[in-house]
Amino acid sequence: MSSLNDFFEKVISVKVPEDYSYIDILDQTLLPGTIKRIELRTREEIWEAIKRLQVRGAPAIGVCAAYGLALLASYIKEETYDAFYKAFITEKEYLASSRPTAVNLFWALNRIDATAQANKDKPVEEIKQILFREADAIREEDVQISRNIGEIGFELLKDLKKPGKEIGILTHCNAGTLATAKYGTATAPMYMALEHGWAPEDMHVYCDETRPLLQGARLTSFELYNSGIPTTVQCDNMASILLKSGKIDIIFVGCDRVAENGDAANKIGTSGLAILAHHYGVPMYICAPSSTIDMATPTGEEIPIEMRDHDEVTAMWYKERMAPEGVDVFNPAFDVADHRLLTGIITEKGLCTAPYGDAFRALGIH
Ligand code: MRU
Repeated sequence: MSSLNDFFEKVISVKVPEDYSYIDILDQTLLPGTIKRIELRTREEIWEAIKRLQVRGAPAIGVCAAYGLALLASYIKEETYDAFYKAFITEKEYLASSRPTAVNLFWALNRIDATAQANKDKPVEEIKQILFREADAIREEDVQISRNIGEIGFELLKDLKKPGKEIGILTHCNAGTLATAKYGTATAPMYMALEHGWAPEDMHVYCDETRPLLQGARLTSFELYNSGIPTTVQCDNMASILLKSGKIDIIFVGCDRVAENGDAANKIGTSGLAILAHHYGVPMYICAPSSTIDMATPTGEEIPIEMRDHDEVTAMWYKERMAPEGVDVFNPAFDVADHRLLTGIITEKGLCTAPYGDAFRALGIH
């Protein structure tokens, strides 16, 4: 287990030094070939790192944004609370404009904002320190949240275990260590299984490569391969034949925003996977911290879907362009899995099934 922990330590996506003078992120655009950390200091560097997916995955974006806002607040020179808060809100709005879909970004920024407001009677210099501690809390809580999600997912894996047979698991994109503070969400059940003494060979995880930015091939398979869990990469359009083959017992995916009715926005391709899973009768679970559940968004229709650069599809990963220069490209970064296709949504507070709005409220998620 210590080697797994060493690995987690090596690939932790967001850290800060003791004096909080910068944000230390693992540049996820360079993986799996290069493990390189970079230091973010300016507002532009933080914004770009989120926008360019150097730091990515809903909870990790939230942690980075929380430290980012605390860091930018620490630069504000104003001495009165009102003047400080005015400058603070400008920085908050700037960071909030980096990506539109993952609600954890706004959730984390709002939490830092609420902390500033709750301490408005204290000296500005003290508020600045309190904001860093709130960002620490967001990061530390995420580790426990992932563990809870993992324990609930592990119970589902236990129900599927048959002597001498590996459990076939499919995942999409990267909702792993790199996307969170430690265990991931969709990967947490597997990591918890290892902590509970299962052999890595008890499971076999298929990773959709996840076009166009290849988070499954570059990141999830990298994580699972390094943790010793048998892992197979497949192109996204191979999920259908795999599900038909009967090799997959369960699907775990992460999520960027869950609407009140349980519609779940996740990396592009998740909706198609949910349709296939439903067709072939394979249970599919969304793994989501409660901070990803947006009760103010009634259905998936209202979730903003990020559209990204054409080059991500046509050029970025190829030695030569693979589509004509100037051709039109459709590149939505996310889609919405219809709640009727899902078996359940695993939060750190419990497993939710339809009707989802009632299930969320019953767990105190409002
Ligand atoms: O565009 P990305 O790589 O940030 O998209 C990430 C995903 O879609 C993840 O599945 C989601 O953020 C959950 S991470 C625990």
